[in-house]
Amino acid sequence: TRTTVGIVGAGPAGLMLSHLLARAGIDTVAVDHRTRHEIETTHRAGILERDSVRLLVDAGVSSRVLTDGHEHRGIDLRFGGESHRIDFQGLAGASTWLYPQTDVFTDLADARARDGGDVRFGVRGTTVADVTGSPFIRYADDRGTVHEISCDYLVGADGSRSICRHEVPDAVRRRHHREYPYAWFGILCRAPASAPELIYTRSDRGFALISQRTEAVQRMYLQCDPSTDPADWSDDRIWSELQARLAGTDGFRLHEGPIFDKTVLPFRSFVQEPLRHGRLLLAGDAAHTVPPTGAKGLNLALADVRVLAEVLELAVRHDDPDALDGYTRRALTRVWKAQHFSYWMTTMLHVPPGADAFDLRRQEGELAMLVASESGRRYLAEGYTGWPAV
Ligand code: DHB
Repeated sequence: TRTTVGIVGAGPAGLMLSHLLARAGIDTVAVDHRTRHEIETTHRAGILERDSVRLLVDAGVSSRVLTDGHEHRGIDLRFGGESHRIDFQGLAGASTWLYPQTDVFTDLADARARDGGDVRFGVRGTTVADVTGSPFIRYADDRGTVHEISCDYLVGADGSRSICRHEVPDAVRRRHHREYPYAWFGILCRAPASAPELIYTRSDRGFALISQRTEAVQRMYLQCDPSTDPADWSDDRIWSELQARLAGTDGFRLHEGPIFDKTVLPFRSFVQEPLRHGRLLLAGDAAHTVPPTGAKGLNLALADVRVLAEVLELAVRHDDPDALDGYTRRALTRVWKAQHFSYWMTTMLHVPPGADAFDLRRQEGELAMLVASESGRRYLAEGYTGWPAV
């Protein structure tokens, strides 16, 4: 096969890029080693920034987010046993939408199928090569037949375990890392929502996040040790820990229900630059990872591919790879804002192991200072709802 843009990874980043390029008349082939079913059933984050919602709707992917998603006009920050509302609309003139990443993926996969896009799920043994010359993707189908896709440009949208990012030679790439001494224990449960919006809670016992999925299913996370085995946690133990972290002077109680999914999510900050090497371009988690606090990962991936579609269109139209030059700078400007925002939200709300009384009271001081200041609340609201496109 020959195509203009070969895309490794058919998650939200790869599929959105394929969709945007198709609208510009540019053909793509996207491959993914996972099956569509595997991607659709892997729980990820649930919050979209305003511009991510606009992109889905305005680019003609689907308007289901507007009917099935839920607009959230703020969040609650809870600490010292009290909730403080951060009013996104009042402070930043923007909302976020509760709309799970699995639904974003389904909408994109349906749109690609509807529009005749070439997306190949469940491929085996993917390799890529010759990214500074004539790039190609090679893989085997489930009968073991080897396929080769040669392309003018190759995009690595293949997630945090990217194979594509290793095609950038050591001599030209830089990698930035940060590890954290905690992880999230994520659960799904059958219960009604405990609050109209999300609650980000800091307590001396650690962080907890009360999120939602549907009227009958809720998503919650609690800070845990990275070595935690979900099997060691009974439903009772989870509920009593969550209730203890949320407890306060207002008598707040979570609605409990049967827990049907328990997973431990790793925490990491990572950036590899540059995002372009020759005819290879990296987007989404292949290029950068953020810790989950603040739900920036998916939004960042969508922001990457919006810029990438624009520069690729120029490069293809004028047969000029130099049009790709600005991609790294434009994308990384937002990436580092999101890196800071995610790091800040994480370190402000999680209790590091071994924290002493000074550390704990200082954290509460930071939160008290933040919510008491309109500028502080606006800073959080602007970061959470997302920065304007560059
Ligand atoms: C969810 C995940 C996040 O990381 C976050 O900050 C908010 C919500 C979620 O899965 O619902």
